[in-house]
Amino acid sequence: MDFNYLAQKYSTPLYVYEFNHFTEQYKKLKEAFRARKSLINFAVKANSNLSVIKHFASLESGADCVSIGEVKRALLAGIPKYKIILSGVGKRDDEIEEALKLDILMINLESMAEMKRVEKIAKKLDKQARISIRVNPNIDPKTHPYISTGLHENKFGVDIDTATRMYLQAKTSENLDPVGIHFHIGSQLTELEPIKEASQVVSDLVRKLQKVDIDIKFFDVGGGLGICYDNETLIEPYDYAQAILETLQGLDVTICMEPGRYLTGNGGYFLTKVLYEKVNGDKRFVIVDGAMNDLIRPSLYNAYHKIEVLTDNEEKSKANIVGPVCESGDFFAKNIEVPKTKPNDLVVIHSAGAYGFVMSSNYNTRPRPAEVAIVNGEDKLIRRRETFEDLIALEKDYL
Ligand code: LLP
Repeated sequence: MDFNYLAQKYSTPLYVYEFNHFTEQYKKLKEAFRARKSLINFAVKANSNLSVIKHFASLESGADCVSIGEVKRALLAGIPKYKIILSGVGKRDDEIEEALKLDILMINLESMAEMKRVEKIAKKLDKQARISIRVNPNIDPKTHPYISTGLHENKFGVDIDTATRMYLQAKTSENLDPVGIHFHIGSQLTELEPIKEASQVVSDLVRKLQKVDIDIKFFDVGGGLGICYDNETLIEPYDYAQAILETLQGLDVTICMEPGRYLTGNGGYFLTKVLYEKVNGDKRFVIVDGAMNDLIRPSLYNAYHKIEVLTDNEEKSKANIVGPVCESGDFFAKNIEVPKTKPNDLVVIHSAGAYGFVMSSNYNTRPRPAEVAIVNGEDKLIRRRETFEDLIALEKDYL
């Protein structure tokens, strides 16, 4: 990819997404589950650009959404309503009502209180809400604590006993239709065993429910498949599928998946250019025009992203790559070997296609970057750069 050309054409900081990579990842995963009915619900939170969602829609993907806003994005981008799931640990009444009116595939419930709320709203609308319940299998996914979700100490889902009680209650309700079951133990998973264990626990519950005539049709294994940021050993889609399928023997269910990072992470790049270098004592800093407000993963999780400086200069030394925001936490990397740079040299930050732009903000009144798609080698602007006017638009009438 000609990053210099793109940086010159669209300026920096800039997000660039290789759509063909998204396609390849989608197909690999779909193929791995070919022996069964499966539905990939792209986790829109990972990258919510309408063109990105539209691309997944064209591959026949569904969507996993965590707000009514994401549901609307998915619909607008062409994902059919019967392939949309609404998840999330806390949903407002108006979101539940809208989701029911939009008649999406199912609403994922995360507590008894929420189920009662959904039932009440469905009754008011004279509807039957298709629901699934998120089971927290209490399994350590062995990932970063901030993105671990399948332990009882995390706020997500309900334990097996509560889930069982919820299904039994739902069965007797005229306004609830328990069609699915769900788990998601964490993100950036690189070990198969915890997924297998979780799938076993949850499929055992499905068997128990079957015995009391509760027929689960959708077995939703969540997202979480890890990608390569550094040199991680990854779970192969085939092994992932086999691990899950082994636990589903005898069950006639559609397997739903909610991958986000796996589909888009490695297909995205964040381009930023060098403003200047400076040395404080014995510390060398390369100051770039992108910042934590554009890509927060290093600051927030101490996440590693591979960084490439496009220069012919071979002379390297240790440096911190930092942005212009007024926080010491505003860095992309610390103490990495970096060639000597000059102003305008391009810095390419890899694996920025998931949880990159979507987590950006306007902190320090910085307009958010543009987003560009590369489709079959051609570049297309899919979100223009914000302007100062955009940033103040919602405030200026109140002056
Ligand atoms: N399904 C559920 C219920 C989730 O909570 C998540 C992610 C996904 C699917 C998609 O997970 P993925 O396949 O992308 O791992 N901001 C963090 C990641 C937060 C993930 C939250 N939930 C990061 O930058 O690493």
